[in-house]
Amino acid sequence: MGQEIFNHFKLMTTQSHSKKLYIKSYGCQMNTYDAKRMEDILRPLGYQSTELPDDADMVILNTCHIREKATDKVFSDLGRMREHKVNREQNGKEMIIAVAGCVAQAEGDVILQRAKYVDMVFGPQTYHLLPEMVTKINSSYGYARVINTDFPVEEKFDHLPQDNAVSGPTAHLSIQEGCDKFCTFCVVPYTRGSEYSRKVLGIMDEARRLIDQGVKDITLLGQNVNAYHGEAPDGSIWSLARLIEELDKLEGLARIRYTTSHPCDVLDDLVAAHRDVPKLMPYLHLPVQSGSDKILKAMNRKHTVQSYLETIAKFRAARPDIALSSDFIVGFPGETDEDFEATLSLVRQLPFGSAFTFKYSARPGTPAANMQGLVPEKVKDERLQRLQALITASAETYNQSFVGKTLEVLFDGRQAKEGQLHGRTAYNQAVHADAHERLYGTVAEVEITRAGHMALHGHVKTANN
Ligand code: SAH
Ligand code: SF4
Ligand code: F3S
Repeated sequence: MGQEIFNHFKLMTTQSHSKKLYIKSYGCQMNTYDAKRMEDILRPLGYQSTELPDDADMVILNTCHIREKATDKVFSDLGRMREHKVNREQNGKEMIIAVAGCVAQAEGDVILQRAKYVDMVFGPQTYHLLPEMVTKINSSYGYARVINTDFPVEEKFDHLPQDNAVSGPTAHLSIQEGCDKFCTFCVVPYTRGSEYSRKVLGIMDEARRLIDQGVKDITLLGQNVNAYHGEAPDGSIWSLARLIEELDKLEGLARIRYTTSHPCDVLDDLVAAHRDVPKLMPYLHLPVQSGSDKILKAMNRKHTVQSYLETIAKFRAARPDIALSSDFIVGFPGETDEDFEATLSLVRQLPFGSAFTFKYSARPGTPAANMQGLVPEKVKDERLQRLQALITASAETYNQSFVGKTLEVLFDGRQAKEGQLHGRTAYNQAVHADAHERLYGTVAEVEITRAGHMALHGHVKTANN
């Protein structure tokens, strides 16, 4: 869809007084990253973030289209935002309502038609144009509406501000966007566009800015992050592993992670990086989706169970303690009991420390939405429960194996209980530890005393914790 601007009015600046901005982000970490960047873009225009939507000058719903539930949530939340808008208008105030993200990209027209009170609709690749869009709406509030769902992805990264507000010692950094894989169930190639890698220079600059503000742990983001092939300053093309090596040299940075990777894009240098690069964490989230080759084929995954297992074996050979995680879909069209049993069998074969499980959700416009052999909702529910039970048990066993050991934990959160901090191990496990407040933002040794499937518990080992 091309860029259309309705009711073109004279531009005005909106710099004046401080305004309140409420952003709600749904879906994946990339959406969270985008939401933060929207805050960075709007700050110079006088917008300060607020946790409460009811008295905001601008509300942005940064939406996710991945499953039906996610999309439905947007429309129910929009109804609530409308009430806040009506209340504010009755008090002579304005409220700009914007829908951003993947639902905006996929259903922008429908939103504008169905929800007359929505002022702006823009997709994941056009939020760098927010100042322009906001100025247009502000200059003719109630009359102008903006829809902007183009795919000028290069432009976006070139135009994002050189100012990242950080919150805490961990941060996300988008390095790759979009996807050309076209799994038959998935909307991402349609909502995020085709695969694109950011240039090395911009990524390194952003990483340095984050570190300067106290960030210790950077997670590199991409829909297919290991397909990264970005241009370096000398014109050569760098792989994800090469980029990680360069980030490893940055002083002040303690940990590097990446997500989400695709089994077909695993290069040998990435496997080797897990052995050779000290700051690269021993954690691998590698979605497999199903343990049945028949279903993998119908999903257009382009890998088999065997090739997936071989890939995992390579990582484990390079880094024996690497923690494993994955994504699974149950109830894909045509999935029989036997296919599902094959998924369970795959989970039994690998010591997953965590995994995400989803019921298949038919998405409009995707090939799978027209496939035969729909699995009844009740069967999907049963399969989901059985798979989740198995993964919970696997996670519990995995976490239990750390009881009595001492692990390095990066403290990234304060707890309600005084004298406790939240942190993460190198293996990405959540830790609740007895620890002094001053350790927030640092890496400390924690002796693990207890473990469940969701988290580890322990206390800081060093003297006078
Ligand atoms: N790019 C990543 C993740 C994409 S979305 C990858 O290729 O693995 C995250 C997860 O959502 C997917 O791995 C998949 O398990 C799930 N998912 C995507 N579309 C879905 C759908 N239509 N129904 C149910 N789950 C879905
Ligand atoms: Fe979606 Fe498949 Fe691309 Fe992942 S690889 S984003 S699941 S199309
Ligand atoms: Fe959702 Fe878009 Fe992410 S559909 S999962 S927000 S890429």
